[in-house]
Amino acid sequence: MTTTVVRDRFVGKSVIVTGAASGIGRETARRFAREGARVTVADIDERGGAETVALIEAEGGTARFAATDVTDPDAVQAMVDGAVAAYGRLHVLHNNAYWAPLGRSVVDTSMQEWDRAIATTLTSVFLGCKAAIPHMVEAGGGTIVNTASTSGLAATPTFAAYIAAKGGVVALTRSVAFDFGRQGIRCNAVAPGLIKGTAATEPVFADPERLAFLNSKLVMGRPGEPTDIANAVLFLASDESAFMTGQTMVVDGGRLIS
Ligand SMILES: NC(=O)c1ccc[n+]([C@@H]2O[C@H](COP(=O)([O-])OP(=O)(O)OC[C@H]3O[C@@H](n4cnc5c(N)ncnc54)[C@H](O)[C@@H]3O)[C@@H](O)[C@H]2O)c1
Repeated sequence: MTTTVVRDRFVGKSVIVTGAASGIGRETARRFAREGARVTVADIDERGGAETVALIEAEGGTARFAATDVTDPDAVQAMVDGAVAAYGRLHVLHNNAYWAPLGRSVVDTSMQEWDRAIATTLTSVFLGCKAAIPHMVEAGGGTIVNTASTSGLAATPTFAAYIAAKGGVVALTRSVAFDFGRQGIRCNAVAPGLIKGTAATEPVFADPERLAFLNSKLVMGRPGEPTDIANAVLFLASDESAFMTGQTMVVDGGRLIS
């Protein structure tokens, strides 16, 4: 059973969440807003993004939608500049958007699928950090939280491009933390295990063989929920994790220890 305690750690803070039109990103954006953040909901999916903004506003929160293709350097720069222009600063960047082909080994992955997976899942994190860090440094600091995956730390069957991209996210998180720690930037990642209720995992829950493999690894006997990941993201984005940087926090119900 997941518990959610509403607090006020982000009052007055400007937060960008990419991939916020759906799943984990939507839940995390809502949770930031409930704790007082002014949220830029960034996604390529305009309808889903508008729905997330409407959900936040219906709860009395503050949000705006930024139509953004996270693989496009100009669009990512505009996403960051737009958040700074709208809300005066950028305190938190949550790089969360992704795309990857499922059920593909290296041999089965086309060049086009590989390039798109790396661009959407890894290059997007590079672009977000590249655009956000100068603003954050100029303003005295900021925090970056990247969504990695247990797949970036251990293999699962036939996820080749995804595993490679998420491994890159884990490594890039350390690199950014190392290079900018003295300038007030912390950069950490969260590594979710199997999370239900997102567009990404619909096919997994529909595939009995893959689900059986993953279920066999679930020490706690249940998949996670988006709010389990939001809890970790908000912790890593907040001052409660002030002495943590370069880390990848595993939130997987015990998957990796099994
Ligand atoms: N659901 C899980 O079990 C699970 C497990 C481990 C890691 N994750 C990670 O969590 C994050 C969120 O995944 P989710 O499960 O909520 O998936 P999701 O499919 O519900 O959300 C992904 C979002 O990314 C957006 N997106 C895709 N391409 C984009 C682009 N080019 N530009 C901007 N936005 C784009 C989609 O529109 C969507 O809103 C991802 O990084 C994923 O790898 C999820």
